[in-house]
Amino acid sequence: MPRQLILEQTIYTLEQLEPLDAPQVALAGRSNVGKSSLINSLAGRKGLAKISSTPGKTRSLNYYRVEPDAFYLVDLPGYGYARCSKTERAKWARLIQTYLKITPRLEAVVALLDSRLTPQKNDMDLIAYIRNLGITLIPILTKADKCKQRERAKIQQQWQRLLDTPTLPMCVSSKSGMNRDKLWELLARTAGVAPAPSLESGPDPAENS
Ligand code: GTP
Ligand code: MG
Repeated sequence: MPRQLILEQTIYTLEQLEPLDAPQVALAGRSNVGKSSLINSLAGRKGLAKISSTPGKTRSLNYYRVEPDAFYLVDLPGYGYARCSKTERAKWARLIQTYLKITPRLEAVVALLDSRLTPQKNDMDLIAYIRNLGITLIPILTKADKCKQRERAKIQQQWQRLLDTPTLPMCVSSKSGMNRDKLWELLARTAGVAPAPSLESGPDPAENS
């Protein structure tokens, strides 16, 4: 059975935010990096998360329940969106920071990074913040369909060096579906649930375990 994503909760304010005691993996990244598109790609449903070519579309924290595994993917509001007011940006930052601090079973934060851009300061700031809280960080490069294999390899190596990780960050594309099954496996393993058998990808090679 393919996995399903069900939007269970949308949080706009600090007052609405309550700790959810279930395994979670959060998706963080700059506005326009492709967080919502990735949710749709994972769900295999175009209209589940709203996407837009104008940055700043997701202004809330969205909890998607993964079925049948019973963990959550949480889409965080994008940062670095210049056109909204300073107060509004500060409000989102507080919401994200509070979520990161109060969630008891936050197994990891996936930091989505644009594969066409060299490492940016606000990405590094977020990564440092997450790591300082002792939360596992998983870097993933988005929009991989937009760059050539050689450019991708270069940016992968650059991020690996910068973040000092044992493996290269995975490249994904919501447009072409590149590495979608691999990402699902990574997310499920990270959330601590047994990987569901996938009809498309066959048995999981033991190399990543
Ligand atoms: P915010 O909600 O503002 O934080 O943005 P977001 O990170 O959710 O980005 P979103 O998914 O809305 O995508 C932003 C733009 O990038 C849209 O125009 C998407 O169509 C495009 N996009 C997202 N993923 C991909 C991808 O893998 N390949 C290509 N070519 N375009 C993509
Ligand atoms: Mg979004």
